Amino acid sequence: MRSPLVVGNWKMHGDLAGNLQLLQQVIAGVPAAGAVDMVVCAPFPYLEQVRNLLAATPVGWGAQTLSEHAQGAYTGEVSAGMLREFGCRYVIVGHSERRALFSESDEQVAAKFLAACNAGLVPILCVGETLAQRESGETVRVVEKQLQVVLDRAGVERFSSAVVAYEPVWAIGTGRTATPEQAQEVHVAIRSCLARLDQQVASGLQILYGGSVKAQNAGEIFAQADIDGGLIGGASLVADDFLAICQAANR
Ligand code: 13P
Repeated sequence: MRSPLVVGNWKMHGDLAGNLQLLQQVIAGVPAAGAVDMVVCAPFPYLEQVRNLLAATPVGWGAQTLSEHAQGAYTGEVSAGMLREFGCRYVIVGHSERRALFSESDEQVAAKFLAACNAGLVPILCVGETLAQRESGETVRVVEKQLQVVLDRAGVERFSSAVVAYEPVWAIGTGRTATPEQAQEVHVAIRSCLARLDQQVASGLQILYGGSVKAQNAGEIFAQADIDGGLIGGASLVADDFLAICQAANR
């Protein structure tokens, strides 16, 4: 049975004082959240604070992106090895904001995924369609293509220590969620895509849903058979909301 996982993606939010308060409240709420794995992905300058505050807790932590390169003249970039040495366990790869705003291609996302795996990090690979793609009936094709490029580059075995997040672009930060049935349909497509290569890896893969998950809608989304938790943006910045979402994932 796959254990539930809820990941908070702070995006480019936070400051030292606010993070301290948020994490103290999250830590205090961990026992009530039950048997759900919790992870926080923070901006690079706050990783040290997050590492120190979460060290003696069951809450995992990680970064929001990484370089596909191991080292070299890539000013401003951070490698997988650096993140691993620093103590990160998780890293988000291919978030739609990275793809759209920073022009990350499917191939670059695949290289980042592989770099993360090679360094011993757990990549949280994001896939998802735009509104135009959904409206033209291309959702499953788009998501399968994003996944296939990573499978071709990294191999299916790598997914035994990876997480996939389905995040429809039109649902991110918009207040508009996929219906539980729409999300479940894509989660099944993702799992089937992997199952064609390795049944065991596919059935063990945690597939998260992301896109305007709130305390109010988390329960019905997480009730779907192939939805193993969530990747949470805005609601991860409010401790009570994040904790309520974690509780909803605990089934
Ligand atoms: P929201 O929960 O704010 O819609 O963000 C989702 C997301 O992009 C998490 O990575």
